[in-house]
Amino acid sequence: MYQIVSATVGDIGHSAMSPYSTPKRKRVGRPSRKLIASTAVGFILVLAAIVAWCYYSASLHKADLLTTEHLDLNKHGYVIRNQAGVVILRMQFRSGTLDLDSCSKEGKIINCDKSNSGNINFFIQTVKPKDTVTCYRVRWDEMEERRLVEHAMSCGGSHWYGGAETWSQHWPIAVKGQRSPEPFIAGDIYSNHQAFGGILERYWLSSNATAIKINDSVPFHLGWDEANKTLLFQSRYDKSPYRSDPGQSHYVTLSYRVCVGLDITSIHKYMVRRYFNKPNKVPSEAVFRYPIWSTRALAEVNQEAFLKYASDIQKHDFNCSHLELYDGYTSDYGDFEFDTMKFPNASAMFQKLCADGFQVTLWTHPFVNYNSVNFGFGVERGLFVRAPGGQLPALVHWWNGIAGILDFTNTETRDWYASNLQALKNKYGVASFKFDAGETSYLPLDFSTFIPLHDPSTFTRRYTEMAIPFSDRAELRSGYQSQNISCFFRIMDRGSVWGYDLGIKSIIPTVLTISILGYQFILPDIVGGNSHTDRTGGLPDRELYIRWLELSAFMPAMTFSLPPWLYDDEVVNIARKFTALHESLVAPRVLELAGEVLYTGDPIIRPLWWIATDDEVAYNIDSQFLIGDDLLVAPVLEPGKQERDIYLPAGRWRSYKGEYFDKGPIHLTDYPVDLDEVAYFVWSG
Ligand SMILES: *[C@@H]1O[C@H](CO)[C@@H](O)[C@H](O)[C@H]1NC(C)=O
Ligand SMILES: *[C@@H]1O[C@H](CO)[C@@H](O)[C@H](O)[C@H]1NC(C)=O
Ligand SMILES: *[C@@H]1O[C@H](CO)[C@@H](O)[C@H](O)[C@H]1NC(C)=O
Ligand SMILES: *[C@@H]1O[C@H](CO)[C@@H](O)[C@H](O)[C@H]1NC(C)=O
Ligand SMILES: *[C@@H]1O[C@H](CO)[C@@H](O)[C@H](O)[C@H]1NC(C)=O
Ligand SMILES: *[C@@H]1O[C@H](CO)[C@@H](O)[C@H](O)[C@H]1NC(C)=O
Repeated sequence: MYQIVSATVGDIGHSAMSPYSTPKRKRVGRPSRKLIASTAVGFILVLAAIVAWCYYSASLHKADLLTTEHLDLNKHGYVIRNQAGVVILRMQFRSGTLDLDSCSKEGKIINCDKSNSGNINFFIQTVKPKDTVTCYRVRWDEMEERRLVEHAMSCGGSHWYGGAETWSQHWPIAVKGQRSPEPFIAGDIYSNHQAFGGILERYWLSSNATAIKINDSVPFHLGWDEANKTLLFQSRYDKSPYRSDPGQSHYVTLSYRVCVGLDITSIHKYMVRRYFNKPNKVPSEAVFRYPIWSTRALAEVNQEAFLKYASDIQKHDFNCSHLELYDGYTSDYGDFEFDTMKFPNASAMFQKLCADGFQVTLWTHPFVNYNSVNFGFGVERGLFVRAPGGQLPALVHWWNGIAGILDFTNTETRDWYASNLQALKNKYGVASFKFDAGETSYLPLDFSTFIPLHDPSTFTRRYTEMAIPFSDRAELRSGYQSQNISCFFRIMDRGSVWGYDLGIKSIIPTVLTISILGYQFILPDIVGGNSHTDRTGGLPDRELYIRWLELSAFMPAMTFSLPPWLYDDEVVNIARKFTALHESLVAPRVLELAGEVLYTGDPIIRPLWWIATDDEVAYNIDSQFLIGDDLLVAPVLEPGKQERDIYLPAGRWRSYKGEYFDKGPIHLTDYPVDLDEVAYFVWSG
């Protein structure tokens, strides 16, 4: 920062003064004989002093130019300090260095127009939108056709949250290994462990009360480096699915906003209110109260099995918000009709289910396989995303075969898709749909859409909009700027494993992450995970299933697929106990908080630091969470454990067993939690 500038000042001062100190000493030994000479020397000395002083003050002035109240800029980057003077953000310019001589300061704006490699337009503007919030708008425009702009943010000193769902999800973010910047687009982390997940936003938040939001218009790529503990923010069009506007220059811009507040919770609240979309209504209350029952992990999907599944739910005295008929009800992927081999009389089936009090949702997705009756029609009508420059669909490979992918930028496609869903709804009385996939990564490598996409993530956003007419009970698993689609968002499919890699331990980190990204009506995955796709053939581990269902009971909504009666009576009883607890204890709180989301965007499921912003321990807790501010949940997530360590932040807490803890913050070690229990604590003043 300006240490570099002042070091230069010191050097100049030293070299300017030293040659003249020798004559000074000589003068002492000599009489007045060379008075003129010494006067001349004295004059030069004074002159030199003046020159040095001018230099010095000019440099000071320069240093001053590149410093605002809490930000110091140098040619390699900048740092931001908080009120107390502590450095809270470090950013390094990786794609070029500033030519500081080209910089100027006017009011709250620092401007530079040259880098080491050419003309740029760089500025940092300080704005104070509120007394307690300071924001820095940062923008680097390359004025010559250039490859990229990259800034590296240091994330070693504090804890960071946000960004995207990931395969191995940690809370706070764990920067592991090294990744050169890749397009920050929604991907399928179940099939590609390296991808960014299906729900993502260009937003990060740190324990140093700092938040960063990358501008929507940036062709944004994200990388990282464990060795340097940095996140790399890169803007480029080269080797990238982002397209520059043909009407505009190809110049690359990186722009973002860093905002600093009093503490992490208050700065997050500010950012969410200011920059995030918010839902405009709370979806179906029933889904928050009663479990969804999905055929997803069942071995057999047909009319008889589905009716039996429904009657078993009733026979075992469970409630059901709706049944979700998953994959496998059509003959070919892309059809909107029941396979009559498997469902000989779908109308009769729906009548029976309706008479028994069931609502039903159906599975849908953006693909039409080449063997579907709708494929030829779609090609003729131009409903698919096309290969560049042609009329033919660009085929994509998804987990159920080869397909055209519907082009949701095309109004005709949207109308056709929506009318097919509406027809199913009308014909059978279907309640809503589970909209699967939608990740941007399912677009072909080279593609063209009806309305050109500068930012490919717009595809994900357009797909999520298809859920709007069905939003009351609709379920999505992808989202980009989709917080205002007022439906349920499901985290990515988990495996039936203990652990972080899409296992049970990743549920809390993932739910907290998408909560921070502004998605609050969250469905954790099906109880027990997707054992059917792990090809183990059998049921998930019994203990894993129980711990999973206990954790789910404290989430905004629960989903079963493999039913508890596939195990034994004890599992059925535990499931009854926790669905009832979900309904009586959790759902009323969640519904109250859900109403607030419409105005605030605040999480329903909150990290411990939400109420303990000064507590360093709270920032690392990834196996406990809060519902609102006053219900703390600590489920057991380890195999073979009937106890766990629990951390209670400062305050007075009453355990579910009735004990009071008020000498907080407090660590409870080996706190006993039986197989049929979840430890939870209520704030009591
Ligand atoms: C953030 O805060 C911690 C102290 O909590 C400090 O050690 C760290 O250096 C700070 N700054 C950055 C840039 O992370
Ligand atoms: C951010 O992007 C918007 C367009 O999405 C643009 O109008 C605005 O000027 C950009 N802000 C900065 C600081 O570049
Ligand atoms: C770490 O940062 C330095 C610059 O500070 C950079 O030269 C180096 O390439 C980075 N390390 C890696 C592994 O990228
Ligand atoms: C389907 O069942 C209904 C009775 O629910 C019946 O009226 C109808 O004829 C059946 N259709 C077929 C094709 O079997
Ligand atoms: C969501 O917000 C965006 C603005 O970011 C707006 O264009 C869109 O119409 C909104 N959609 C709904 C369903 O409210
Ligand atoms: C089903 O709902 C009823 C009525 O709300 C409730 O009393 C009962 O506990 C619920 N049963 C289970 C197993 O959740």
